[in-house]
Parts: sequence; structure tokens; C-alpha cells
Amino acid sequence: MYVVGDEEIEAIARVIRSGKLFRYEDDGECERFEKRYAEYLGVSDTALTVSGTYALSAAMIAVGLGPGDEVLIPAHTYMATATAVLTTGAIPVIVDVDESITIDPSAVEAAIGPRTKAIVPVHMWGAACNMNAIMEIAARHGLKVIEDACQGVGGGYEGRKFGSIGDIGAFSFNYYKNMTSGEGGAVSTSDKELAKRARCAIDPCHFYWTGREDGIEPFAGNGGRASELQGAMLNVQLDRLDGMISAMRAEKKKIVDATGRLNNLGLKLSPMNSPDYDCAAHVMYLLPSAEQASRFVKVFPVVIAGKTGRHTYTEWDQVLMGIGAAHPAMNPYNHPDNAGCRRTYAKDMCAGSLDILNRTVMVPTRPDHSEAETDAIIHNIEVAARVAFGEMEADAAEVRPTGALDPKKFDMAGSGDIGLAS
Ligand SMILES: Cc1ncc(COP(=O)(O)O)c(C=O)c1O
Repeated sequence: MYVVGDEEIEAIARVIRSGKLFRYEDDGECERFEKRYAEYLGVSDTALTVSGTYALSAAMIAVGLGPGDEVLIPAHTYMATATAVLTTGAIPVIVDVDESITIDPSAVEAAIGPRTKAIVPVHMWGAACNMNAIMEIAARHGLKVIEDACQGVGGGYEGRKFGSIGDIGAFSFNYYKNMTSGEGGAVSTSDKELAKRARCAIDPCHFYWTGREDGIEPFAGNGGRASELQGAMLNVQLDRLDGMISAMRAEKKKIVDATGRLNNLGLKLSPMNSPDYDCAAHVMYLLPSAEQASRFVKVFPVVIAGKTGRHTYTEWDQVLMGIGAAHPAMNPYNHPDNAGCRRTYAKDMCAGSLDILNRTVMVPTRPDHSEAETDAIIHNIEVAARVAFGEMEADAAEVRPTGALDPKKFDMAGSGDIGLAS
């Protein structure tokens, strides 16, 4: 979900006219955004990056992962969660998700071994992981928690924002996220030491530009520094975020309330870990069988979680093939320190997750839906469910249009009622 209007165009134009496109200017856009976003999340530091993938890598480097370490990641996430682990030289260990389609705390507990160093809860589709359980397990076993909040921009768990609960968090601002600068990302943490290490991972030369002596031992890293164009756009996007999220929450609530009557048909909501605080980007239903889920989406063409083509471990080719780096000598799967790690995968290793994911249908919300469009979604869910549960023939199911995103509605200077700048 993204909304972009004239304010972003003007903010970017201002930066271009100023000629100051490089960050580290006094009162620059990146610096301003980092301060504002840290305050928004309730953490002491955020650091901008070129992408969510880079933010994840920097977060993992910051906590000190490396060869010999195993990192627990969920069976359902974008491949970057796994590849970011590999960039540190550590090995991703894939564990099941539960019916919330986020990492299953009991699977985490069962998967902890002598090499385990960290857990990566991924707030998939903006829905919260069971953070109380994960933090408790991590504390008991002395593990680091890296929140992958790339899909959870603006959402939270029991009143705390995603990215502020674990040791460190990572966000994506790519084109599909709740805030966007085309591409982009950020690391968040309240641990000063981790923040310094993350900044070094993002820009190993930042000491030179900022004149800051960060008091950490510097190390070499790739460059993942953001530009002022990104910072400028994100400063506007941040003004829109809460309005968008509350509009999506309102739509989700309306859909959830209205489709509660389909419970007796057998249509059940997926269990959610923090339904009042997540991004509300989707209303998810867990059908009794994969076949019923397929029948549902044939009528109302929404997505089955297990069929997106890229968000399930069975689709992460490089990982499954053990190609963890471009050069074989740098491949963590070949590294002698990883000899004692669990390094092999099989397509059926998380069969329970595949079953859940292939039964989960996700109906997207949108902040700009009119009442009539939300009513059309509710109608479509009902007819799709009736077909899925064999109460209606597919030919008799008539779906209604649910509208197309109109970014102009959100121009903050215009008549938009969402995301007004404060
Ligand atoms: C869960 C998750 N992690 C990481 C990423 C990587 O973010 P980016 O595409 O900005 O590199 C994404 C992107 O879609 C994601 O969904």
C-alpha cells in the first residue's frame, strides 16, 4: 500500500533545487527523518538505508552474527530475511509458522540448538508476531531478537510499535510498503552500541562525513547509504502514515464485524496476535481445506498466502540450493565454522506451515475505499465463502467492483481526509 501526492514531488524538487542531494548536511532531510521516525517508534535511534534488505543485513551485522551461528527465521517471509542472515556468514534455520502465519513460538522453542544466536520474527503482511512469547523465549535462552518489520511499517503489538520490541528492527520503504521512497529502508534500536554498529554497516565511512567518533571498532562493509531525495520523500510519507493505518483499521473492523455472520457457514478469521494494533493491511481467513481456499479465490480473486510465488521457503531457490554467496569461498554453507550448523533444507520440511498457508486467504484493505467499496468487499467475501463451502454454485456468484487506488485523494493540501500533515 502506498499513497503519494504533490507534497512528495515538492519536497523532492526542493532538495534538487538546493543542490544538496548528499546526506550529512546540517539539518538534512535524512537526519530529520531519522529523528522523527525514532520518536514515532519510541526508540532512541533509527538509521536510513537504501533498502529493507540492507537494513536487515545491517541489523544482523550490528548484533554480531557470523559464521558458526544459526538464526531462526519463519517458513513464510520474503527471501531477504534468509539472505540477510547469509550476508553475515551465519546460517538461517527455517521454522514453522502458526495459524497467524507468523513465526510459531513453540516451533522456535523446539528449534533452539547449541548454535542458535538469534530469532527473526517477521510481522508478515503487517500482522504482529507473538512478541511476548518470542521475547520470553529469547530472554530465557540468551538470544537476540531482530524484528523484520519490513511489511509492518506503522503497525504495532499491544501498544508498542513494530521495530521497538526486539533488540533491533528493520523496515522497508520499497514501492509496496506503507511508506515509500521507491526503494529504502531503516534500522531501529534503543541500544546505542547496536546503532553505532548499524551505522558503520550502512556507511563504513560515515565517521569522515559526520566528524563523529562513534567509539566502536570500525569494520569494512558495503555501502547502503540513503540520499536526501529519499529522506525528503519519507518526511512527507511519515505525515500520512497514521491516517492511512487508521483508515485501514476502520475498514478491517467493518469487514470483520460484517463477516462474523459467516462463522456458522464455517468461515473463520485467522487468529491474530495483536488485532487492534497491527497494520490492518489484510483481513485473513483460514479455510478448512486448500481446495476451499482455491474455490474462494476463483470467485473473489484475492491472494492465498501460500501462493504468492515468493514468500514461502519452498521458493527461495538459492537458499534451498545452498548457494549462500556469489563466490564459493565466501559461501556460509561451505564455511568450516558452520560445519556444526544445520545446513540442509527440504521442500517438505515445514509441511504444517504449507498446509496453513495454502488455506489462508488474504483480503486486502485500502485507506481510500469508500463505504460502497467496503460493502462490495463484504458482499464478495460472502459469495466466495458460499461457493467455497458448497452453498452456492460458482456460476451464481456475482462479485462487485472494489475500486482502484486514487492517490489524488490523499494530497494533503487538497480535500484528502487521510494522512493530513499535522
Ligand atoms: C518481510 C520482508 N523482509 C525484507 C524485505 C526486503 O525489503 P526490500 O525489498 O526493501 O529490500 C521485504 C520486501 O518486500 C519483506 O517483505
